[in-house]
Amino acid sequence: MPDTAPLLRVENLTTHIFLKRGVVRAVDGIDLELAAGETLGIIGESGSGKTMTCLSILRLLPKAGGRIVAGRVLLDGTDLTQVSEAEMARDWRGRRIAMVSQDPLTALNPVFTIGDQVGGPFRYHHLARGRAAVRTAVTAVLRRVRIPSAETRLDDYPHQFSGGMRQRAVIGMAIASVPRLLIADEPTSNLDVTIQVQMIELFRDIQRETGLGIILITHDLGVAASLCDRIAVMYAGRIVETGPVRAIYRNPAHPYTQALLAAIPHLGQKRARLLAIQGQPPSLIDPPAGCRFAARCAQAMPRCAEAYPPDVAVATDHFAACWLAQPGQGNAVQGTAAA
Ligand SMILES: Nc1ncnc2c1ncn2[C@@H]1O[C@H](COP(=O)(O)OP(=O)(O)O)[C@@H](O)[C@H]1O
Ligand code: SF4
Ligand SMILES: [Mg+2]
Repeated sequence: MPDTAPLLRVENLTTHIFLKRGVVRAVDGIDLELAAGETLGIIGESGSGKTMTCLSILRLLPKAGGRIVAGRVLLDGTDLTQVSEAEMARDWRGRRIAMVSQDPLTALNPVFTIGDQVGGPFRYHHLARGRAAVRTAVTAVLRRVRIPSAETRLDDYPHQFSGGMRQRAVIGMAIASVPRLLIADEPTSNLDVTIQVQMIELFRDIQRETGLGIILITHDLGVAASLCDRIAVMYAGRIVETGPVRAIYRNPAHPYTQALLAAIPHLGQKRARLLAIQGQPPSLIDPPAGCRFAARCAQAMPRCAEAYPPDVAVATDHFAACWLAQPGQGNAVQGTAAA
C-alpha cells in the first residue's frame, strides 16, 4: 500500500439482509483498500457477496431488509455509512461514485435519447447549466467513450445504437460526473469478446486520464487478470485472499483461490470463466463457525471446522485467511505476467 491515504478504505463492512426466514449475512466483516488510479478486482462464485459489497458502498441495499450493521466506508476520508441520504444522493452516488451495472443494456431508457440520458448527471448534479452547455458536455463524454460522430449521435435513441455503443454510452453516463470511484459489477458479462476488449481499453484510458479508482466485479478471471492491479477473492460473505494480481494468479495461497484457478482450462483464454467447483457454498443465513470453505476443501483439518482462520500475510500486501497459509508462501511472484 502506498503511504498516502487510500482513495477508498472499507473497514469491517458488515451488511445483513433481514428476511422472515432469517438474517442473510451477505457481507460479513470485510476490509478493502483502493488507491487512486488503481483497479481492484473482486472475484468469487455467485452468491459470495460481491454485489452486496458494492451496493453497501453505494448505500443502495434492498429496501426490504438490507442494512449495513457495522463498519466504515471511507471515501476520500468521509465515512459514507454516516452521511445523510440527501448528501449521499447529492454528492456521492452518481457523482463521486459511479456504477456500471450488471445489465448495462437495461440501464438505458428506450424512450429518451442518448443525449438526454448521458446528460442526466450534468443536469442533476448541476455540472452544466443550460441546454447548449449540457449538449456540449455530453458530446465531449460521448467522444471520450469513442462514439463516432458524437455530435449527431446524441439525438439517437438507444435502439439506434449497437450493443457495444450502448455499453459505451452507459459508461459515458457513469463517468460524466468525473467520479473518483467507479464500481463496475460484471460489466462485460453479456458482451462478446471483441466488445469486452474494447471496454477494457476504454476503462484503462479513462483511468489514465482521470486517476479514477475502479472496483471491478467479474466472473471472468481473464478479464480480471488483464485489467486489475489487485484482487480480492470473496467466499461466503468474506474476503479469503487479497493481493497483487500477479501474486494471486501465480501463487494463490488459499485453497479456494487455488480451486478457482484450477477450474480454468487456460488462463490466457479470453473467456476464462469460473467453472464449477465441487459442492455448494454454505448458507449465509447460518454460516459455519469455522472456515467457510471447509466442506469443500481437500486440505481441511479438524481445526478448520472449529475456528475461523486468521488473515496471514503470506507476502507483502498479500493475505490469505487459511490455517495452512504461511508467511513466505506468496513470495515467488517474479516472472512473466499472470495472463
Ligand atoms: N435482494 C435480496 N434479498 C435477500 N437476499 C439477497 C438479495 N440479494 C442477494 N441476497 C443474498 O445475499 C448474498 C450475497 O449475494 P450477492 O452479493 O448478490 O452475491 P454475488 O454478487 O457475489 O453473486 C447471497 O446469499 C444472496 O442470496
Ligand atoms: S482453513 Fe482449512 S478448510 Fe479452510 S481453506 Fe484452509 S485448509 Fe481449507
Ligand atoms: Mg453479483
